[in-house]
Amino acid sequence: MKEQIEKVKAQLLQEADAINDAKSMEDFRVRYLGKKGHVTELFRGLGQVEPQQRPEIGKLLNELRSLAEQAIAEKKSRYSAASREDQIDLTLPGRIPRIGRKHPVTLVREEIKTIFERLGFAVADGPEVETDYYNFEALNIPKTHPARDMQDTLYISEELVLRTHTSPVQIRTMLNQKPPVRIIAPGRVYRRDTPDASHSPFFHQVEGLCVDENVTMGDLKAVLSVFAQQLFHKKDLRARFRPSFFPFTEPSAEMDIWWESSRGGRWMELLGCGMVHPNVLEGVGIDPERYSGWAFGMGIDRIALNKYGISDIRTLFDNDMRVLRQF
Ligand code: DAH
Repeated sequence: MKEQIEKVKAQLLQEADAINDAKSMEDFRVRYLGKKGHVTELFRGLGQVEPQQRPEIGKLLNELRSLAEQAIAEKKSRYSAASREDQIDLTLPGRIPRIGRKHPVTLVREEIKTIFERLGFAVADGPEVETDYYNFEALNIPKTHPARDMQDTLYISEELVLRTHTSPVQIRTMLNQKPPVRIIAPGRVYRRDTPDASHSPFFHQVEGLCVDENVTMGDLKAVLSVFAQQLFHKKDLRARFRPSFFPFTEPSAEMDIWWESSRGGRWMELLGCGMVHPNVLEGVGIDPERYSGWAFGMGIDRIALNKYGISDIRTLFDNDMRVLRQF
């Protein structure tokens, strides 16, 4: 019996070494530990062994079984998982993972954010589905105001709209925070526009708001001029402020910058801005006699188009990898 055990052991060790895939591993298991396996058969013979020898033989058999089990356990980690190894052709060239790029709008937004953060502005956020109150009423745009036509929106219900601008974040911020307030609020906005080369029913804006004591239009012009110089990396960037109208600012202005391209120079509208209207401050419980503020709203997409020489705004939202890979 001992001799037999030694023989099976030697054979077992040799065959365990030869296991090289999931199938040979399973064959090995059946051959040794299966119902009619060598080890199982030896156990069956234990009954015929003389009683005094049984403990010793039993011990040897147990060791033999452990040996087989160990061999299988060792190979299992390599060959079990659904014989994966057999199906992978290791001689094939590897697949190069595609590295993602930041979207041009993201790039510009991040740049704007960095500049304003250096100037001491925090980033605020608001919902894209807004109430009529935050999007219009609180911004001094009552139900019958003609300015609503300019920003015709997509209504969710009587009271809920897709925000037409980031200005409602001004209101939310001032309700939550007493002056001094210095924030920018980047985000997506919606308008009922038919898409063409220069219109998209959704686009991106950055709102800015500064409220404190003794804040003047001079501060507005200084901060926005420095901002534009940094955004376009041009210390002598020419800017001009034109009188304009927004219901939530008084006075209001439009800021243009001089844009040079290969086709020559032209004034390009950069943003709308103004001194926060006293009605707006009063509406959020800030005393307009004590505090004043300035604000601006700027489209991000058009800056990205100019910066990267893209002529159609729809290009930004087509998700065409051939385009997006270039940035
Ligand atoms: N909300 C305006 C728009 O979408 C832009 C704007 C103009 C925002 C003047 C302002 C501002 O905060 O002061 O057309």
